[in-house]
Amino acid sequence: MPKRVLIVLNKSYCSSREAHTAATDAAVENSISSIEQEYKYSMTQGDGSIRTLTVDIGGSGIKVMVLDEAGNSLTERSRKETPQPPKPDAVIDVITQLAAGQGEFHRVSVGFPGVVRGGITATAVNLDPDWIGFDLATVLSNRLGKPVRVANDADVQGLGAIAGKGVELVITLGTGFGSALFVEGKLVPNLEMGHHEFRKGETYEEQLGRAALDKGGQKKWNSRLEKAIASLEHLFNYDYLYIGGGETKKITLQLPPNVKIVPNVSGLLGGIALWRD
Ligand code: BGC
Repeated sequence: MPKRVLIVLNKSYCSSREAHTAATDAAVENSISSIEQEYKYSMTQGDGSIRTLTVDIGGSGIKVMVLDEAGNSLTERSRKETPQPPKPDAVIDVITQLAAGQGEFHRVSVGFPGVVRGGITATAVNLDPDWIGFDLATVLSNRLGKPVRVANDADVQGLGAIAGKGVELVITLGTGFGSALFVEGKLVPNLEMGHHEFRKGETYEEQLGRAALDKGGQKKWNSRLEKAIASLEHLFNYDYLYIGGGETKKITLQLPPNVKIVPNVSGLLGGIALWRD
């Protein structure tokens, strides 16, 4: 926004002059405000909506969609297989290709399958060790030329699913086992239940991730899921538990009334919440 910078500089120049008046300040404020409006208009193509590209990086697929400011989808979701090996450069190439098919957007939200702090990915059990300490927000922002915010994928999924009341726990069943915790709508970031011991010396992810489902079959997986829900309820005493992720379609067990299955698209829809300051 070079014009705004110029106006702000002009203002400080005026302020330093003894002869400046309140009227001068008011005129400068008006100019700043009109330049800001002009900037916002150019951000929105004039339709009143800032367009957010939301990206869900998964162990098997990468999905994208564009949302309006209220978080409603403006485009069809598109998906590509996660490249193998899923190293940062290869994944960023796929995101760039998918983004090119989504039309105009002004900012980007990313759900990443690992711990994320300040845009930097800290773990990536189901991707590649090259992600450890990788500045995804900066690298992707430089590639796409747009501001980028990144959070854990289960956190994003939860942001797209919760009601914002009481204690709400979210788990995601896909390649890995994701988890997110909210208290009165406020996120406790990077809850990693997936790698905690669950039963028989194995973690939640080892017992309920896709590899376990493929190996043990749907019946065994459902019976483990029932035990996991009981275990999580005793631990968190949540008001609601939401279950998301691609493998929710394999759930056959009767769920308790405070447990809800949420559509997988929540993993994209939640992306809008990363821009609520
Ligand atoms: C990761 C989590 C992620 C989950 C689902 C786990 O292996 O550690 O951060 O949310 O997979 O992708």
